[in-house]
Amino acid sequence: MIDVLPRESASTWLDLVETTPSLVFDPAMCRHKWGALTKALPDITLHYAVKSNPYPDLLQTIAAEGGCFDVSSSAEIKILEYLGIHPSRMIHTHPVKTDVEIERAVASGVTTFVVDNVDELWKLIPYRHVILVMLRLSFIAPDAPIDLSRKFGAPVQDALSILDVAKDSGIRIDGLCFHVGSQAATANTHADALATCLELCKKVREKGLPEIVRIDIGGGFPARYTGEPVDFESFCAPIREVLTNVPDHIQILAEPGRAISAPSMALVCKVIGRAKRRDGWWFYLDDGVYGAQSGRIFDGMRYRMSVFTSSNEQSACVFAGPTCDSVDELGRYPEFPVLNMNDIVIFHEMGAYTLASATHFNGISPPSVVTRALPDQVQEHRLSF
Ligand SMILES: Cc1ncc(COP(=O)(O)O)c(C=O)c1O
Repeated sequence: MIDVLPRESASTWLDLVETTPSLVFDPAMCRHKWGALTKALPDITLHYAVKSNPYPDLLQTIAAEGGCFDVSSSAEIKILEYLGIHPSRMIHTHPVKTDVEIERAVASGVTTFVVDNVDELWKLIPYRHVILVMLRLSFIAPDAPIDLSRKFGAPVQDALSILDVAKDSGIRIDGLCFHVGSQAATANTHADALATCLELCKKVREKGLPEIVRIDIGGGFPARYTGEPVDFESFCAPIREVLTNVPDHIQILAEPGRAISAPSMALVCKVIGRAKRRDGWWFYLDDGVYGAQSGRIFDGMRYRMSVFTSSNEQSACVFAGPTCDSVDELGRYPEFPVLNMNDIVIFHEMGAYTLASATHFNGISPPSVVTRALPDQVQEHRLSF
């Protein structure tokens, strides 16, 4: 979906930023999404997945809402520490860590870690008196385009034997966790996986293994990327149904990333070059796949665009990023306004896995970030491409 708007109205966006490319973070939107997901998942402790966007103002916004944090490295812990966030509000959920990472995280005061295999358990033995561990299980959501259960997660049938080994090693596994995959279309797999974990908890008790007292249902809560807000209330309904079967002694956690961070930022770009080539007009923007838009390659994303132009001519066109690499392409359109130099392009819902993975390839810096209220979306001429 692309909105084409008069070039002069780009000032609504340009007034917000000092330069382009620039990401605009809106704390009110972030608070709104956090509130909506909290309401849709009552009695679940949300740990924001820092990996999806570690922008300090975003982390502060969530901290001020009373949120907790899911971290995957000591560098992420350091940012939270710097913001004055206590380690008791952090869980370290990376299933495979170096010894140095573990040592640093423990030194910072983080006490929850995740494993999905026995070799990872051995790494935690030196810290067994001061930490608790969750066992990550693998549940693949058929409707989540970004899989996170092939690379990580023990098969459910291996859980009891890993718990046995942990017990013999003096490591307290008190939780189960999973991530069904990012950008899930429904919460059916979250709900089924939670139900399976509850069954497993009973088997753990029957076997006389240390009690499981928490289940972390991971991330995977979606952003729509269409301008339509996600209805978290209905999305989470299958999870809420299973929540009614959770015994009082089991705490439920979740690790949302994208659902919170994506809608909280937009990306302001400019046309920095253009050329008519064999396959149509090429428009070169000042951000591309090596900047905030790697999700196009890694996650198959098509971000919603608004273009501000005074052009009234149309042509086939190709959008490209600013680097010399030919893979740095942002989309092809059979018919599109022929943009002019310095025309403005806004990409919406650009907060998730954008800034977090931006590189300095070609010596080109990632977008700068400002904290401002996002403008209301005026859609005067909406074209579908
Ligand atoms: C362990 C863990 N938790 C949470 C998340 C956040 O997932 P999402 O952004 O889909 O909510 C991820 C994403 O990679 C993850 O690996």
